Amino acid sequence: MRFDVLTLFPDMIENYCSLSIMKRARENNIIDVSTINPRDFSLDKHKKVDDTPYGGGAGMVLMAQPYVDAYESIIKYENSLTVMLTPQGKTFDEQMCVDFAKYEQIILICGHYEGFDERIRDIIKPYEVSIGDFVLTGGELPALCLIDSVSRKLDGTLGKLLSAEEDSFSNGLLEYPQYTKPREYRGYKVPEVLLNGNHSEIEKYRREESLKRTKERRSDLLE
Ligand code: ADE
Repeated sequence: MRFDVLTLFPDMIENYCSLSIMKRARENNIIDVSTINPRDFSLDKHKKVDDTPYGGGAGMVLMAQPYVDAYESIIKYENSLTVMLTPQGKTFDEQMCVDFAKYEQIILICGHYEGFDERIRDIIKPYEVSIGDFVLTGGELPALCLIDSVSRKLDGTLGKLLSAEEDSFSNGLLEYPQYTKPREYRGYKVPEVLLNGNHSEIEKYRREESLKRTKERRSDLLE
């Protein structure tokens, strides 16, 4: 899967995607991440990408021309989706993540500090996504959340595919508690059931713990 990210801060995207699991997924050609900077498309001699809002008001507005030209320069795959990261979008969740993983290419449009000139929406017609009801200074962190969570759905990104399937949300429940060595730490013991090698009992215990945790913390998921 290919991600093309329109951003005024390409280093933010590049840095994150050059580490850990994203780095490995790129090296293994499971994902390809490219950035494109609208500033490089500005026709202004000072490479300006924003201006004051018509009608007045505080702040600046991202200009249509650099964004639209940058967007139009991207080679589009047949099975491609364009996403704009804004607090006004549909809230991102696990189902959206699964749906997005079916595309060959996702183009991500990030703003920074300020709003988009509405004509960017009129012309590009992106699908708008929010990562929650709070406002960030830019769309880069939301874009990275999307790249990261969609990438880990793709075969080969995680060492064992199973570890994605057993995560919180993928079966509609929160994840059960996990333990590793030692058996006892500061008086806290690993539950006996995990030590006896009885796989059906372990599965039953984990399912019950998942249900218990979901009921306590996120009863909305059970409904
Ligand atoms: N840009 C600023 N805040 C955002 C949010 N919560 N989700 C997506 N994009 C954003």
